[in-house]
Amino acid sequence: MRNRGFGISSDEILGKAYDSKLMKRLLQYVKPYAKYVAFAILLNVVVAGLGPLRPYLMKIAIDEHIAKHDYNGLLNIVLILFAVLIFQAVVRYFLTYFTQLMGQKIIYDLRIKIFAHIQNLSLKFFDKTPIGRLVTRVTNDVESLNQLFSSGIITIFSDVFIIIWIFIFMFSMAWELALVTLSVIPFLFYATFLFRKKVRNAYRSVRFHLARLNSYMQEHISGIYIVQLFTKEKAEEKKFKAINDDYKDVNIKSIFYYAMFFPVVEFLSSTAVALIIWYGGGEAVQGAITIGVLLAFIQYTEMFFRPIRDLSEKYNILQTAMASSERIFKLLDTKEIIPDPENPKKFDKVAGEIIFKNVWFSYTEKDYVLRDISFKIESGKTAAIVGATGAGKTSVINILNRFYEIEKGTVLLDGVDIRKIKKEELRKHISLVLQDVLLFAGTIKSNISLNNPAIGDDEIVEAAKIVGIHDFILSLPNGYDEEVKEKGATLSGGQKQLISFARALVYNPQILILDEATSSVDTETEMLIQKATRNLLKNRTAIVIAHRLSTIKNADKIIVIHRGEIRESGSHRELLAKKDIYFKLYQLQYKEQENFIL
Ligand code: CTP
Ligand code: MG
Repeated sequence: MRNRGFGISSDEILGKAYDSKLMKRLLQYVKPYAKYVAFAILLNVVVAGLGPLRPYLMKIAIDEHIAKHDYNGLLNIVLILFAVLIFQAVVRYFLTYFTQLMGQKIIYDLRIKIFAHIQNLSLKFFDKTPIGRLVTRVTNDVESLNQLFSSGIITIFSDVFIIIWIFIFMFSMAWELALVTLSVIPFLFYATFLFRKKVRNAYRSVRFHLARLNSYMQEHISGIYIVQLFTKEKAEEKKFKAINDDYKDVNIKSIFYYAMFFPVVEFLSSTAVALIIWYGGGEAVQGAITIGVLLAFIQYTEMFFRPIRDLSEKYNILQTAMASSERIFKLLDTKEIIPDPENPKKFDKVAGEIIFKNVWFSYTEKDYVLRDISFKIESGKTAAIVGATGAGKTSVINILNRFYEIEKGTVLLDGVDIRKIKKEELRKHISLVLQDVLLFAGTIKSNISLNNPAIGDDEIVEAAKIVGIHDFILSLPNGYDEEVKEKGATLSGGQKQLISFARALVYNPQILILDEATSSVDTETEMLIQKATRNLLKNRTAIVIAHRLSTIKNADKIIVIHRGEIRESGSHRELLAKKDIYFKLYQLQYKEQENFIL
């Protein structure tokens, strides 16, 4: 991958400024708002026509009324001019409002679509995609499309209309003078061409360095704990400064081109005005044209350059939007979704018998993480999976939930292949308590119910009581409505675990999976957790990835996984008697826990 060190990939490559295929696809999102578009274009035509009308009115005021000392006529024209100005302001207001509204509506839809798509992707996709990149898709990339819709495409219409109107007015008033104005156009085109080329490259490096800055920031803030622990702040600051310097430099470079371009355009437009004054002034002296026409032309010439100057800005908007939409569509086209069956099997009630039959699985297609795994857990029984770190324990439950697809073999729930069950249906019957507890920003209550409206307050309290965290929750100032910060930052490890137990319990699943945390807690919490675990496992089929001797001893069956294979299975007593792997594990890891067991 290109520039891997900076976390930048094909993301930063700018594509074509206009790609009709992409545009066609983008327009599908505009379609629901076709009425807004039509209205906005109509307003644009009106606004575009009103501007060039003003110099024309001024010409009439000078030639027809001022020159002829017609005071009443002049007053009429002034009133008309004033009315035009007010009308223009009103139309502009509606134009701005409707284009922004349309832009916001389109990107709102798009964000929902992207988020929904991301949520459905298989975990395999997330294993290889940095979070920052996905966040960028939903925020920055979508935002640049907003710019395209709200100020890009539609104002291009108005620019073109303005230019057409000015042409019409100029040629109908005095075509020779019109040609004089146009004489500077080739120079303007050349300047714009050069500018566009330079800015494009500069813009590319700005984006590259911005992405570098962002990924550096992201990594360091999420790893701040380590940075502070190893007192790396100074060193990291130095690295950051270097990245920041680069970013500043490329920005300054791109500003330089703008700083050059605008004065050049200004110079060209002044030259055109000077030519008009020189040539048109001569004509006026000879009486070939009136003073009114001369003044109107000066205004038209100035007016004419504005949209052309803006076009280069819009070119940038278009280019950015094309690049963004390409990335968004690439994400939306990602098909890494675990499929649901066409004719799914429905369950009224699940007994909870789980069978793994010769299951082979790998995360990366290269190495098998699980090899030929077979076991059976009868309904209502508890199986403990034990094994060294990295042995493949979590992988077993990832498969059972269908977070990942297996390569070979079958997994059966009540005798039905889990690939024949809808994922939603399957996961409804399974609750999962993870090794790393994840709490969301919200309240204690919302973290237990996960905002499921079907779960009443009584059930939440009941679950909290069973796992023994009810009293703790009541001791908080706001009880069940106490605010929980992102990732549950204000709660201790043990508290978070118990809340996640309550979360699993409140759904009252027939099957429960528990990936026990390895982090140790104080003796009192340990006892609470042991008791909660016992309550959790009662009357359900359970798979526990066990680190606690108490859980293991209470299990109906212990499955020992070693390097992706089942090496032993049986009860605690049976396995100890074998004096093989479990026996060694017991000596090394569990024996010292003996004292804690109730
Ligand atoms: N693995 C992987 N990609 C993942 C998750 C895991 O390649 N997304 C690999 C790990 O490197 C490991 C193997 O799969 O070598 C098994 O991982 P896992 O089942 O998570 O191991 P556990 O037995 O659960 O280990 P621990 O006790 O540390 O949780
Ligand atoms: Mg694990």
